[in-house]
Amino acid sequence: MQRHEFLRRLHRQIKPKTYLEIGVNSGASLRISRARTIAIDPEFKIIHPLRCNLVMAKATSDDFFARENALAHFRGKPIDLAFIDGMHLFEFALRDFINVERATDWASVVVFDDMLPRNVPEAARDRQTRAWTGDVYKVIHTLREHRPDLVLLPVDTQPTGLLVVLAPDPASTALKDNYDEIEKRYIVPDPQDVPDEILNRGCAYDPEQVLSAPFWDVITSGREKKRKGSAKTLAAAVRDALPAPKGTPKRKRRSMLSR
Ligand SMILES: C[S@@+](CC[C@H](N)C(=O)[O-])C[C@H]1O[C@@H](n2cnc3c(N)ncnc32)[C@H](O)[C@@H]1O
Repeated sequence: MQRHEFLRRLHRQIKPKTYLEIGVNSGASLRISRARTIAIDPEFKIIHPLRCNLVMAKATSDDFFARENALAHFRGKPIDLAFIDGMHLFEFALRDFINVERATDWASVVVFDDMLPRNVPEAARDRQTRAWTGDVYKVIHTLREHRPDLVLLPVDTQPTGLLVVLAPDPASTALKDNYDEIEKRYIVPDPQDVPDEILNRGCAYDPEQVLSAPFWDVITSGREKKRKGSAKTLAAAVRDALPAPKGTPKRKRRSMLSR
């Protein structure tokens, strides 16, 4: 399944009221949104028709989040769905997540693009290839290690995989508190040592299996406050619906779907 098809079906599944997109380019992913939307890109060139209530920020995501009241367009509502697809370097994607998570609640969904590079040159920090993921795949390992409370679902979409993050916690400071140490450890010169589970996609879920799982209902009804829900009930529902993929190293299986 192509990544935009997955995103389209995810929008349909969770019907976000608010959507934040980092990295817009031509608007191919932004055109999917029908929600109240904020989109951020220092160099967008929209060629697709857009059908959402949109505020566009021509800025880098770091500069955008440094603004006072950056998310005013959402009128105090949490971000229901975020798509992080801006600068393809690990530390930028991690900072994007830290900034996004502050404006989420447990029923929010955060999706990262380009988390499953197909080869080592594609994952280089110094761009060498036309299709480029950079080293953002390191976010998976970082979140497993520093945020065992999150539910992490790498998804085997084309061309370069997605990561769906569920049960975010706006109060968590674990990533911010350890940011300097994480940078020091993960920012290393090319060539990158991309783990096998990433290159062969052994850690990833089938997109159809993820989209058709019953746990999305916990998110939508929780968001609408129709039913009492929490990060814990959501994580349990995901665990029931999706066993960890076979290619996930054993000691990491628990933390794939932790809580
Ligand atoms: C891969 S494209 C986005 C594609 C789009 N999300 C889609 O799926 O159709 C990446 C975009 O990120 C933007 N970008 C680069 N650095 C950025 C940054 N620091 N903050 C936000 N966007 C950035 C680039 O200008 C580029 O348009």
